[in-house]
Amino acid sequence: VRTCEVTAFGGPEVLEPGERPNPVPAAGGVVVRIRAAAVNPTDIGTRSGGGRARMPELQPPFVLGWDLAGEVAAVGEAVTGFLPGDRVCGMIPFGRIGGRVGAYAEMAAVDSEWLAPLPADVSFEEGATLPLNSLTARQALDFFDLEPGSRLLVTGASGGVGGYAVRLALEAGLYVVAMAGRDDEEWVTVLGADEVLPRGADLKLIEPVDGVLDAVPLGPELATPPLRNGGTIVFTRPPHPSEPNRDLHYETVWVRPDPEALAEMARMLAAGTLRTRVARLLPLEQAAESHRLAERGGNHGKVVLTT
Ligand SMILES: NC(=O)c1ccc[n+]([C@@H]2O[C@H](COP(=O)([O-])OP(=O)(O)OC[C@H]3O[C@@H](n4cnc5c(N)ncnc54)[C@H](OP(=O)(O)O)[C@@H]3O)[C@@H](O)[C@H]2O)c1
Repeated sequence: VRTCEVTAFGGPEVLEPGERPNPVPAAGGVVVRIRAAAVNPTDIGTRSGGGRARMPELQPPFVLGWDLAGEVAAVGEAVTGFLPGDRVCGMIPFGRIGGRVGAYAEMAAVDSEWLAPLPADVSFEEGATLPLNSLTARQALDFFDLEPGSRLLVTGASGGVGGYAVRLALEAGLYVVAMAGRDDEEWVTVLGADEVLPRGADLKLIEPVDGVLDAVPLGPELATPPLRNGGTIVFTRPPHPSEPNRDLHYETVWVRPDPEALAEMARMLAAGTLRTRVARLLPLEQAAESHRLAERGGNHGKVVLTT
Protein backbone atom coordinates (compact mmCIF):
# COMPACT_ATOMS: atom_id res chain seq x y z
CA VAL A 1 0.00 0.00 0.00
CA ARG A 2 1.03 3.58 -0.55
CA THR A 3 2.00 5.56 2.53
CA CYS A 4 3.56 8.85 3.41
CA GLU A 5 6.40 8.41 5.88
CA VAL A 6 8.39 10.50 8.30
CA THR A 7 11.90 9.65 7.06
CA ALA A 8 13.74 11.65 9.77
CA PHE A 9 12.67 14.08 12.49
CA GLY A 10 12.60 17.55 10.96
CA GLY A 11 10.70 19.99 8.74
CA PRO A 12 7.83 19.18 6.34
CA GLU A 13 10.32 17.95 3.70
CA VAL A 14 11.02 14.79 5.74
CA LEU A 15 7.56 13.51 4.72
CA GLU A 16 8.10 11.27 1.72
CA PRO A 17 5.94 8.79 -0.19
CA GLY A 18 6.57 5.16 0.76
CA GLU A 19 5.30 1.60 0.28
CA ARG A 20 4.42 -1.04 2.86
CA PRO A 21 3.03 -4.57 2.64
CA ASN A 22 -0.76 -4.88 2.71
CA PRO A 23 -1.87 -4.98 6.36
CA VAL A 24 -3.80 -7.98 7.67
CA PRO A 25 -6.36 -7.68 10.46
CA ALA A 26 -5.40 -8.93 13.91
CA ALA A 27 -7.96 -10.68 16.13
CA GLY A 28 -10.34 -7.94 17.20
CA GLY A 29 -8.95 -5.72 14.48
CA VAL A 30 -10.11 -4.18 11.23
CA VAL A 31 -8.24 -3.17 8.11
CA VAL A 32 -9.53 0.13 6.76
CA ARG A 33 -9.13 1.30 3.18
CA ILE A 34 -8.42 4.91 4.09
CA ARG A 35 -9.97 7.56 1.84
CA ALA A 36 -9.13 10.64 3.88
CA ALA A 37 -6.76 11.50 6.74
CA ALA A 38 -6.87 14.86 8.52
CA VAL A 39 -3.68 16.75 9.36
CA ASN A 40 -3.55 17.82 13.02
CA PRO A 41 -1.16 19.92 15.15
CA THR A 42 0.01 16.80 16.99
CA ASP A 43 1.21 15.32 13.67
CA ILE A 44 3.42 18.36 13.19
CA GLY A 45 4.87 18.00 16.69
CA THR A 46 5.61 14.30 16.15
CA ARG A 47 7.20 14.89 12.73
CA SER A 48 9.50 17.57 14.08
CA GLY A 49 10.63 15.37 16.99
CA GLY A 50 8.57 17.10 19.69
CA GLY A 51 6.90 13.83 20.66
CA ARG A 52 10.10 11.96 21.44
CA ALA A 53 9.72 12.27 25.21
CA ARG A 54 6.29 10.65 25.07
CA MET A 55 7.20 8.03 22.41
CA PRO A 56 10.93 7.37 22.91
CA GLU A 57 10.78 4.10 20.98
CA LEU A 58 9.35 5.73 17.84
CA GLN A 59 12.09 6.02 15.20
CA PRO A 60 11.83 7.02 11.52
CA PRO A 61 10.73 5.79 9.12
CA PHE A 62 7.16 5.70 10.41
CA VAL A 63 3.66 6.52 9.18
CA LEU A 64 2.05 9.51 10.87
CA GLY A 65 -1.59 10.35 11.52
CA TRP A 66 -4.44 9.91 14.00
CA ASP A 67 -7.60 10.71 12.01
CA LEU A 68 -9.02 8.55 9.25
CA ALA A 69 -12.18 7.91 7.28
CA GLY A 70 -12.73 5.17 4.72
CA GLU A 71 -14.21 1.73 4.19
CA VAL A 72 -13.69 -1.54 6.02
CA ALA A 73 -11.51 -3.76 3.82
CA ALA A 74 -11.25 -6.82 6.11
CA VAL A 75 -12.21 -7.81 9.63
CA GLY A 76 -10.33 -10.03 12.07
CA GLU A 77 -11.65 -12.78 14.31
CA ALA A 78 -14.06 -11.81 17.06
CA VAL A 79 -15.00 -8.51 15.44
CA THR A 80 -18.70 -7.76 15.57
CA GLY A 81 -20.41 -4.70 14.21
CA PHE A 82 -18.25 -4.13 11.12
CA LEU A 83 -18.39 -5.77 7.70
CA PRO A 84 -16.25 -5.24 4.60
CA GLY A 85 -17.51 -2.22 2.70
CA ASP A 86 -18.86 -0.38 5.77
CA ARG A 87 -18.10 3.34 5.86
CA VAL A 88 -16.18 4.25 9.02
CA CYS A 89 -14.26 7.01 10.68
CA GLY A 90 -11.79 6.52 13.47
CA MET A 91 -9.03 7.77 15.69
CA ILE A 92 -5.73 5.94 15.91
CA PRO A 93 -4.58 6.75 19.49
CA PHE A 94 -1.14 7.38 18.04
CA GLY A 95 0.52 8.51 21.29
CA ARG A 96 -0.88 5.69 23.41
CA ILE A 97 0.32 3.01 20.95
CA GLY A 98 3.79 4.46 20.48
CA GLY A 99 3.05 5.45 16.87
CA ARG A 100 3.07 1.88 15.55
CA VAL A 101 0.17 2.57 13.10
CA GLY A 102 -0.60 5.79 11.24
CA ALA A 103 -3.34 7.18 9.03
CA TYR A 104 -1.22 8.75 6.25
CA ALA A 105 -1.64 5.57 4.22
CA GLU A 106 -3.95 3.81 1.78
CA MET A 107 -4.73 1.15 4.39
CA ALA A 108 -4.19 0.60 8.10
CA ALA A 109 -4.81 -2.28 10.52
CA VAL A 110 -6.62 -0.75 13.47
CA ASP A 111 -8.50 -1.84 16.58
CA SER A 112 -12.27 -1.99 16.08
CA GLU A 113 -12.66 0.08 19.28
CA TRP A 114 -11.08 3.04 17.48
CA LEU A 115 -13.80 3.14 14.81
CA ALA A 116 -17.40 4.23 14.44
CA PRO A 117 -19.84 4.05 11.52
CA LEU A 118 -19.71 7.06 9.20
CA PRO A 119 -23.23 8.07 8.07
CA ALA A 120 -23.80 7.94 4.31
CA ASP A 121 -24.34 11.69 4.00
CA VAL A 122 -21.03 12.65 5.62
CA SER A 123 -18.13 12.75 3.14
CA PHE A 124 -14.90 10.92 3.92
CA GLU A 125 -13.09 14.27 3.95
CA GLU A 126 -15.43 15.74 6.56
CA GLY A 127 -15.56 12.48 8.49
CA ALA A 128 -11.77 12.48 8.80
CA THR A 129 -11.89 15.78 10.70
CA LEU A 130 -14.22 14.36 13.36
CA PRO A 131 -12.60 11.67 15.53
CA LEU A 132 -9.57 13.21 17.28
CA ASN A 133 -11.03 16.67 17.69
CA SER A 134 -14.62 15.86 18.64
CA LEU A 135 -13.50 13.23 21.17
CA THR A 136 -11.05 15.73 22.66
CA ALA A 137 -13.79 18.37 22.86
CA ARG A 138 -16.23 15.99 24.53
CA GLN A 139 -13.67 14.63 26.98
CA ALA A 140 -12.51 18.16 27.83
CA LEU A 141 -16.12 19.19 28.55
CA ASP A 142 -16.50 16.16 30.84
CA PHE A 143 -14.14 17.85 33.33
CA PHE A 144 -16.67 20.62 33.99
CA ASP A 145 -19.64 20.36 36.26
CA LEU A 146 -21.57 23.38 35.02
CA GLU A 147 -25.29 24.11 35.27
CA PRO A 148 -27.11 25.09 32.07
CA GLY A 149 -26.72 28.82 31.56
CA SER A 150 -23.19 28.87 33.05
CA ARG A 151 -20.63 30.88 31.12
CA LEU A 152 -17.92 28.85 29.36
CA LEU A 153 -15.02 30.49 27.53
CA VAL A 154 -13.63 28.47 24.60
CA THR A 155 -10.35 29.64 23.04
CA GLY A 156 -9.34 28.41 19.58
CA ALA A 157 -13.09 28.22 18.91
CA SER A 158 -12.74 28.21 15.13
CA GLY A 159 -10.28 25.29 15.26
CA GLY A 160 -10.95 21.56 15.29
CA VAL A 161 -11.25 20.98 19.04
CA GLY A 162 -12.71 24.41 19.76
CA GLY A 163 -15.37 24.27 17.05
CA TYR A 164 -16.74 20.94 18.22
CA ALA A 165 -16.54 22.13 21.83
CA VAL A 166 -18.64 25.21 21.05
CA ARG A 167 -21.39 23.08 19.51
CA LEU A 168 -21.33 20.43 22.28
CA ALA A 169 -21.36 23.09 25.01
CA LEU A 170 -24.32 24.89 23.39
CA GLU A 171 -26.14 21.54 23.14
CA ALA A 172 -25.54 21.13 26.90
CA GLY A 173 -27.22 24.48 27.51
CA LEU A 174 -24.09 26.46 28.39
CA TYR A 175 -23.60 30.13 27.50
CA VAL A 176 -20.56 30.09 25.24
CA VAL A 177 -18.03 32.91 24.92
CA ALA A 178 -15.83 31.93 21.99
CA MET A 179 -12.47 33.32 20.90
CA ALA A 180 -12.03 32.92 17.14
CA GLY A 181 -8.87 32.48 15.08
CA ARG A 182 -7.42 35.04 12.67
CA ASP A 183 -10.25 36.76 10.74
CA ASP A 184 -12.53 33.87 11.60
CA GLU A 185 -15.25 35.44 13.76
CA GLU A 186 -17.91 34.69 11.17
CA TRP A 187 -17.53 30.92 11.47
CA VAL A 188 -17.79 31.05 15.26
CA THR A 189 -20.96 33.10 14.85
CA VAL A 190 -22.31 30.45 12.46
CA LEU A 191 -21.57 27.84 15.16
CA GLY A 192 -23.96 29.78 17.39
CA ALA A 193 -21.62 31.09 20.10
CA ASP A 194 -23.39 33.56 22.38
CA GLU A 195 -20.45 35.96 22.35
CA VAL A 196 -17.60 36.07 19.82
CA LEU A 197 -14.18 37.52 20.58
CA PRO A 198 -11.45 38.15 18.00
CA ARG A 199 -8.12 36.33 18.24
CA GLY A 200 -5.86 38.26 20.60
CA ALA A 201 -8.73 39.81 22.61
CA ASP A 202 -7.63 40.80 26.13
CA LEU A 203 -9.39 38.23 28.31
CA LYS A 204 -8.80 40.38 31.40
CA LEU A 205 -11.48 42.70 30.06
CA ILE A 206 -14.37 40.24 29.63
CA GLU A 207 -17.14 39.40 32.12
CA PRO A 208 -16.16 36.58 34.52
CA VAL A 209 -16.72 33.03 33.29
CA ASP A 210 -17.48 29.79 35.19
CA GLY A 211 -15.17 27.60 33.12
CA VAL A 212 -12.48 27.85 30.43
CA LEU A 213 -11.69 25.31 27.72
CA ASP A 214 -8.33 26.54 26.50
CA ALA A 215 -8.15 24.74 23.17
CA VAL A 216 -5.31 26.83 21.65
CA PRO A 217 -3.99 26.49 24.42
CA LEU A 218 -3.03 30.03 25.39
CA GLY A 219 -1.87 28.90 28.84
CA PRO A 220 -2.64 30.07 32.37
CA GLU A 221 -1.34 33.61 32.12
CA LEU A 222 -3.57 34.60 29.20
CA ALA A 223 -6.55 32.31 29.71
CA THR A 224 -7.25 32.29 33.47
CA PRO A 225 -7.90 36.01 34.23
CA PRO A 226 -11.66 35.85 33.51
CA LEU A 227 -12.16 32.56 35.42
CA ARG A 228 -14.06 32.94 38.70
CA ASN A 229 -12.49 31.59 41.88
CA GLY A 230 -13.17 27.87 42.28
CA GLY A 231 -13.58 27.48 38.51
CA THR A 232 -11.99 24.87 36.24
CA ILE A 233 -9.76 25.47 33.23
CA VAL A 234 -9.05 22.57 30.87
CA PHE A 235 -5.94 22.78 28.68
CA THR A 236 -5.18 20.76 25.57
CA ARG A 237 -1.47 20.64 26.51
CA PRO A 238 -0.04 20.59 30.06
CA PRO A 239 0.11 24.15 31.41
CA HIS A 240 3.15 26.11 32.53
CA PRO A 241 3.18 26.95 35.39
CA SER A 242 1.46 23.70 36.38
CA GLU A 243 0.13 25.05 39.68
CA PRO A 244 -2.59 27.70 39.84
CA ASN A 245 -1.78 30.91 41.71
CA ARG A 246 -5.32 31.21 43.09
CA ASP A 247 -8.27 28.95 43.85
CA LEU A 248 -8.63 27.34 40.40
CA HIS A 249 -8.66 23.79 39.09
CA TYR A 250 -6.21 22.99 36.30
CA GLU A 251 -6.93 19.96 34.12
CA THR A 252 -5.35 18.64 30.92
CA VAL A 253 -7.31 16.45 28.52
CA TRP A 254 -5.56 13.40 26.98
CA VAL A 255 -7.89 12.05 24.36
CA ARG A 256 -8.77 8.35 24.39
CA PRO A 257 -10.87 6.23 22.03
CA ASP A 258 -14.59 6.02 22.78
CA PRO A 259 -16.50 4.26 20.00
CA GLU A 260 -19.98 5.00 21.39
CA ALA A 261 -19.30 8.72 21.78
CA LEU A 262 -17.69 8.86 18.34
CA ALA A 263 -20.68 7.12 16.75
CA GLU A 264 -23.01 9.60 18.40
CA MET A 265 -20.95 12.56 17.23
CA ALA A 266 -20.85 11.17 13.68
CA ARG A 267 -24.66 11.15 13.77
CA MET A 268 -24.60 14.73 15.12
CA LEU A 269 -22.35 15.73 12.23
CA ALA A 270 -24.76 14.15 9.75
CA ALA A 271 -27.67 15.98 11.41
CA GLY A 272 -25.86 19.34 11.31
CA THR A 273 -25.73 19.57 15.12
CA LEU A 274 -21.95 19.45 14.80
CA ARG A 275 -20.23 21.38 12.04
CA THR A 276 -16.81 21.06 10.44
CA ARG A 277 -14.75 22.71 7.71
CA VAL A 278 -12.31 21.21 5.27
CA ALA A 279 -9.98 23.99 4.14
CA ARG A 280 -7.83 22.10 1.64
CA LEU A 281 -7.69 18.65 0.10
CA LEU A 282 -4.31 17.33 -1.00
CA PRO A 283 -3.27 13.92 -2.29
CA LEU A 284 -1.38 11.72 0.19
CA GLU A 285 1.85 12.22 -1.77
CA GLN A 286 1.69 15.94 -0.90
CA ALA A 287 1.77 15.44 2.86
CA ALA A 288 4.82 17.72 3.09
CA GLU A 289 2.81 20.57 1.56
CA SER A 290 -0.13 19.78 3.85
CA HIS A 291 2.18 20.27 6.84
CA ARG A 292 3.48 23.56 5.48
CA LEU A 293 -0.11 24.81 5.25
CA ALA A 294 -1.11 23.49 8.67
CA GLU A 295 1.99 24.97 10.30
CA ARG A 296 1.29 28.37 8.81
CA GLY A 297 -2.20 28.37 10.41
CA GLY A 298 -5.06 30.67 9.46
CA ASN A 299 -6.52 28.00 7.16
CA HIS A 300 -10.12 28.35 8.31
CA GLY A 301 -10.57 24.58 8.55
CA LYS A 302 -8.59 21.37 8.44
CA VAL A 303 -6.14 20.32 5.77
CA VAL A 304 -7.07 16.78 4.69
CA LEU A 305 -5.07 14.20 2.74
CA THR A 306 -6.90 11.98 0.28
CA THR A 307 -5.78 8.62 -1.07
N1 LIG B 1 -4.42 16.73 24.64
C1 LIG B 1 -5.11 16.15 23.67
O1 LIG B 1 -5.61 15.04 23.82
C2 LIG B 1 -5.30 16.91 22.39
C3 LIG B 1 -6.11 16.39 21.38
C4 LIG B 1 -6.32 17.14 20.22
C5 LIG B 1 -5.68 18.37 20.08
N2 LIG B 1 -4.87 18.82 21.07
C6 LIG B 1 -4.20 20.14 20.95
O2 LIG B 1 -5.23 21.12 20.94
C7 LIG B 1 -4.80 22.26 20.20
C8 LIG B 1 -5.84 22.62 19.14
O3 LIG B 1 -5.92 21.59 18.18
P1 LIG B 1 -6.85 21.77 16.89
O4 LIG B 1 -6.78 20.56 16.11
O5 LIG B 1 -8.17 22.31 17.30
O6 LIG B 1 -6.04 22.93 16.13
P2 LIG B 1 -6.53 23.84 14.93
O7 LIG B 1 -7.65 23.21 14.19
O8 LIG B 1 -5.31 24.26 14.23
O9 LIG B 1 -7.17 25.10 15.66
C9 LIG B 1 -6.44 25.97 16.46
C10 LIG B 1 -7.26 27.26 16.61
O10 LIG B 1 -6.60 28.12 17.54
C11 LIG B 1 -6.35 29.37 16.92
N3 LIG B 1 -5.10 29.91 17.46
C12 LIG B 1 -3.85 29.47 17.22
N4 LIG B 1 -2.97 30.21 17.89
C13 LIG B 1 -3.68 31.14 18.57
C14 LIG B 1 -3.33 32.21 19.45
N5 LIG B 1 -2.07 32.44 19.77
N6 LIG B 1 -4.32 32.95 19.96
C15 LIG B 1 -5.61 32.72 19.65
N7 LIG B 1 -6.01 31.73 18.82
C16 LIG B 1 -5.05 30.96 18.29
C17 LIG B 1 -6.26 29.05 15.45
O11 LIG B 1 -6.53 30.21 14.72
P3 LIG B 1 -5.78 30.63 13.37
O12 LIG B 1 -6.75 30.29 12.30
O13 LIG B 1 -5.59 32.07 13.58
O14 LIG B 1 -4.49 29.86 13.26
C18 LIG B 1 -7.37 28.01 15.31
O15 LIG B 1 -8.65 28.62 15.25
C19 LIG B 1 -3.43 21.88 19.62
O16 LIG B 1 -2.44 22.38 20.49
C20 LIG B 1 -3.45 20.36 19.67
O17 LIG B 1 -2.15 19.81 19.71
C21 LIG B 1 -4.67 18.12 22.21
